[in-house]
Amino acid sequence: MKISFSEFELPRSGAVVVGVWEERVLTEPARRLDAATGGALARAAAAAPRFHGKKNETLALVGPPELPVSRIVLAGLGKPETVDARLLEELGGNLLAQLNSAGESEATFAIDVGDKAKVKPAEAAARLAFGAALRAYRFDKYRTKQKPEQKPSLAAITVMTAASAKAKQAYGALGAAAEAVAFTRDLVSEPANELYPESMAQRAAALDLPGLTVEILDEHKMHELGMGALLAVGQGSVRPPRVVVMQYRGAGSDSPPLAFIGKGVTFDTGGISIKPAAGMGEMKWDMAGAGVVIGLLRLLAARKARVNAVGIAGLVENMPSGSATRPGDIIRSMSGQTIEVLNTDAEGRLVLADVLWYCQDRFKPKLMVDLATLTGAVVVALGHENAGLFANNDELAERLIAAGKVVGEPLWRLPLSESYDRAIDSDAADVKNIAGDRGAGSIIGAQFVQRFVNNVPWAHLDIAGVAWSKKDAPTVPKGATAFGVRLLDRFVADHYEKE
Ligand code: BES
Ligand code: MN
Ligand code: ZN
Repeated sequence: MKISFSEFELPRSGAVVVGVWEERVLTEPARRLDAATGGALARAAAAAPRFHGKKNETLALVGPPELPVSRIVLAGLGKPETVDARLLEELGGNLLAQLNSAGESEATFAIDVGDKAKVKPAEAAARLAFGAALRAYRFDKYRTKQKPEQKPSLAAITVMTAASAKAKQAYGALGAAAEAVAFTRDLVSEPANELYPESMAQRAAALDLPGLTVEILDEHKMHELGMGALLAVGQGSVRPPRVVVMQYRGAGSDSPPLAFIGKGVTFDTGGISIKPAAGMGEMKWDMAGAGVVIGLLRLLAARKARVNAVGIAGLVENMPSGSATRPGDIIRSMSGQTIEVLNTDAEGRLVLADVLWYCQDRFKPKLMVDLATLTGAVVVALGHENAGLFANNDELAERLIAAGKVVGEPLWRLPLSESYDRAIDSDAADVKNIAGDRGAGSIIGAQFVQRFVNNVPWAHLDIAGVAWSKKDAPTVPKGATAFGVRLLDRFVADHYEKE
C-alpha cells in the first residue's frame, strides 16, 4: 500500500475521509466538501441520529453527484483538545479496515485536527498514516486460493495536511517502525517447519543496515561458552540451536549499550513433559520475544537512533526424542549454577538463563530487558490486555510502563521477592526450574530468570498473553502482534538518545 502526503485540496477520486467534532461540528475540510456538494455532509449527519462526531464513530455516504469521488466518510474526532497521537493511529487503522471492506482502491484522508489537538498538523498526518500502515499488515504467503474479494483492495492513501513536507519527514521514523513491526509479525507468524533456529538466525543476518552487525553463535561455540542450559533445551531436536547477537552503535561513543534479550523457542512441544494436543500449534509463536528483539534492533538502526544497543536471541526447538533432556536431569548453566530440570516444558527460563548471563558477561550493559512468552500463568493473571512486568529496578519499571501506555502496549508490574525465590531451591542442585506447587507461576518463572542476573538494572516482560491476538484491534490485525517493538522503541527514544 502506497502512502503519500499532500496539501489540502478538493479530492477528485476514490474515497474521502473528513473529520467531524463532537456535536456534529464539521472540521474545515469537511465544511469545504459540504459546500462543494450542496450541503450533502451536513444533511447526512443530521439524518443519522446515532452519529455525534464522537471518537470511533463513522458515517459513510455514497459519492454525491457534484464530485467524482466514490464515497465520503465522516470520521468522529471527539473534542478538539483530546485528539492525540494514539487516537489518530487508531483512527487510521480503523479507516483502513473499513475502506478495505468497502472495496475502495484509493482514499484521501482530509482530516484537519485544528490547533487545540495535542499533536501538530504534520505529526497528526503522519500518525494517521502510521495507524493505517500497521493495520494493513497481512500474512498471506501460504494462501494460494484467495478470491479477489478476500484480498485487500486499498492500494493507495493520500493524507492531506497543511504541512505536507514536514508530515513526510515525520513519517520517516514511523514508516520504519511499521516495517519493523511487519518484519517481526512475519517471523512470529511463520510455522516451525519454515522458521527454526538456523532459518530464523538467517533472517536476522540478512539485515543490512548502517551501524548494525549481526553475529550467529552455533552449537560448537555454545559448548565452548558453557551454555549448558540452552543446549539442554535444544538437544532433543534435529534442528541445532543458534544464538543471534546484534550490535547497533548509534551513540557515537563507547557508552555501555542497552541490552534486549529474547526467548526464541521456534517450537515448544514441551519436550518429554509433552504438552496436550489441543492448541499445541500455537507454540509456533513461542519465539515472539526473540522476534521482537530482532525487529527492535532493525528499527533502531533503520531510524538511526542515537544510542548503543545489543539484541540477543536464544533460538532453540524444544522436542521430545531419544536425545532429549529428561525430567530430573541436572544441567550446568554458563553462570556455573547447576539446574535440576523437573519439567522440560519450563524451557524458556533455561534459554534466558544462558543468554542473559552471556549478555552481561560480554557487554556489561547499562540495563537489560528480556521478552519471553514464558508462562501460561500470565494469561490467567492478566489475560490478553497487559503483559506482565518484573524488574529489579523501580526507575526502569516506571519508564517501561510509561512507554507502554503511550504506544498502547500496556504493562502491569508483578512482584519479586526472596520468599518466592525459596520455592525454586533444589534438593539436588543449585536451583530447580519449577516450584513444588502451582501458585504464582509467572512470578516463579521470573524468580528463576533473576537468578541469572547480577547487579544490572533488569526487567522481564512475560508476553505470553499479548504476543498473539485472536481478534482485530485498530492498529493490530488478528495474529502476531509484535507487542514490544513499539514499546521499547519509545522507551529508548524517551530516555536514552543523545540530543
Ligand atoms: N511457552 C510456554 C508458555 C506459554 C503458554 C506461552 C501459553 C504462550 C501461551 C512455556 O514454555 C511453558 O510451557 N510454560 C509452562 C511452565 C510450567 C511447566 C511451569 C506453563 O506455563 O505451563
Ligand atoms: Mn514450555
Ligand atoms: Zn515455551
